[in-house]
This record gives sequence, C-alpha cells and structure tokens, in this order.
Amino acid sequence: MTPDGLAEWYEPHIAEWSRKATPETTLWFWNTEVGWATVHPIFTAYDWEYRSCHTWNKGIGHVAGNANTKTLRKFPVVSEVCAQYVRRVRLPSGGESLPLKEWLRREWLRTGLPLSITNFACGVANAATRKYFTKCHLWYFPPPDHFEKLVQYANANGRPAGRPYFSVDGNNPLSASEWARMRAKFYCEYGINNVWSEPPVRGSERLKHGLKCVHLNQKPLKLIEMIIRATSDVGDVIWEPFGGLCSAAVAAHNLQRRCYSAEILPEYYEFAHGRLAAKNGNKENTSSAAHAKNNRKTRASEITEGRRTPARQTSPSRKGAAPSGLAALFPL
Ligand SMILES: C[S@@+](CC[C@H](N)C(=O)[O-])C[C@H]1O[C@@H](n2cnc3c(N)ncnc32)[C@H](O)[C@@H]1O
Repeated sequence: MTPDGLAEWYEPHIAEWSRKATPETTLWFWNTEVGWATVHPIFTAYDWEYRSCHTWNKGIGHVAGNANTKTLRKFPVVSEVCAQYVRRVRLPSGGESLPLKEWLRREWLRTGLPLSITNFACGVANAATRKYFTKCHLWYFPPPDHFEKLVQYANANGRPAGRPYFSVDGNNPLSASEWARMRAKFYCEYGINNVWSEPPVRGSERLKHGLKCVHLNQKPLKLIEMIIRATSDVGDVIWEPFGGLCSAAVAAHNLQRRCYSAEILPEYYEFAHGRLAAKNGNKENTSSAAHAKNNRKTRASEITEGRRTPARQTSPSRKGAAPSGLAALFPL
C-alpha cells in the first residue's frame, strides 16, 4: 500500500483503539517514515499525543537488495520507524474539559488561594510554581504524593463554596493512586535511546518455510519486548491488531503480559498460531490469536478479554504491501 489513502485506511482502526484506550495506554506505531507522517494527523484528531519517534536501524547487513543506488537514485534504506503515542487526557473543571496542565492550574485558581503558596502546600522548594503550575512547556505531572498534599491543602483552605477541588466526579477529590493512573506507564531502562540498532530477524527466531522467510516484516522480539517492558506491567493487556507472525504476542508471553492479536491472512495466522502453541508446549496460552476472515469486507476483529466483535471496514488490497504492524498497549 502506498502512503496515499493510508490515513483513511487506518482511521476506523484508530477510532476503535481510541475507544478502548485508557490514560495509561501507550500506542506504538511501526511504519515507514512517510507512512507515519501521513497517519500522524489522524492520531492527533483522536486525542493521541505524540511522544517520540524511534528509528529502527537494521544496519549495513540490510543494504543487500537495495544497494542499486545508481538506478534508485537514493541512499539505501536500512530503517523503519516506531512512533510512541499516549492519550491526551482531559478532566472536567467549571463545565469545561481541560488538558491536565490547564486542569491543575484551573482547579487551584478556583480555590481563591495564591499560586505562590503551592510550594508550601505540597512541601517542595520551588517545583510546584516552576513545574506543576507553569503555563509553559516546562510543565510536568506532579508526583502522586505531591498531588495528594496539594489536594488536601486546597480542600482544607480553599473557598468552601467551590469544594471539592481536584475532583472528577464532583463528589470526591482524586486520590494519589487515581492521579497516578492519569498518564501512560513508562519505565526507562538504562542505555536505551531513540535509535534502535538491531539487525533484521535471523537464525532460529526467523520463521522459514523451506528456505524462504515466512513473513518479510517479522519484527525482532528484542525490540518488541523492550517497548512492552517500557510501557506496561506484568499482567497488563497488549493488543496487536496486525499480527503477522504475532511477535508481540510471543514477547508478551515471555514477559507475563496478556496479549490479543489479529491476523487477516490464513497462512500467517497458521504460522503465528503454531509459534504461540509451541511457546507453551501446545497447552492453552496466555496469549490468543484471532484470524480475521480473509474477506475484503472484513477488517481486524476486535478482541477484548477473549470476546470478539465483528469488524466493519474493508481490508487493504492484497496486491500492495501490508501496513506495518502496531502494538498498542492497554494496561489494565
Ligand atoms: C507488518 S506485518 C506484522 C508483522 C509482525 N509484527 C511480526 O513480527 O510478525 C502486518 C500484518 O498485518 C496483517 N493485516 C493487514 N490488514 C489486516 C487487518 N485488517 N486485520 C488483521 N491483520 C491485518 C497483514 O497480513 C500482515 O501480516
């Protein structure tokens, strides 16, 4: 599939993922750089906030096959990108729905208390005025224990008529643990940056049919495991809508997450199914793969907690290259 039409093709998928996502969800979008750039406005329209773009550098070994620069008239391509998105969370304040940064500030201003005492209220030297209540790009999310102190101070000392402050339901203020769940999980391992140098999948990890690779776009488990570790916890749910050989399901299984995958082509589905069954000695797996019917009127089935609901859209042309895979993480 060329980039033309890619945004329209992805939109109904993105709409569905958006319905199921929570503030803790991270969405990882694998594609070419042009594919990603084309689809990016759709993510934004569905309240996905761009966080970072990672380049998978497959290295010099990948030049073979696209080294005819004289004819191609460009440098050999040895990369793909993987973009990270998180939910743009909005909370209610005074009849409006505001992004977290504005909500925090608005709720404090509603108390009638001066911004200058927010440092005292949450027991910090100057982080509250400089970071939690700034209007500029230096804003950051108050840690839950600081948030809790702010909330207690505001509700004890703010104008009685406006209470409760920092509440979503209008009855009780958010607790520290509820606040902690208002953003995507992220655990940064030492030494990782936004360029991922990793050769294409080889050796026993590469699924082959005779001498031929089963799937041209099989992703390295090392990279998929890295993004799953970075943005989910043990027991969380991973959704892999374009499974291929279901590398995300394999990675999720290795990391004790639960994964649901869909793959539209029966031949890939069978290989993925065998791969997953082998992981668990042919026993029932914590991961499950679903075969979305190979029918041009069918799109990836939606699978949640083992329930499958029919899909709605047309599948991409089988003549063109399939869209790149995506692992959306839905922590529960
Ligand atoms: C880039 S590949 C995924 C490769 C995978 N990450 C791996 O490591 O094996 C994308 C896959 O999505 C599948 N696909 C395309 N449209 C689909 C749809 N509507 N529903 C489910 N799978 C689909 C394609 O057949 C293809 O195998």
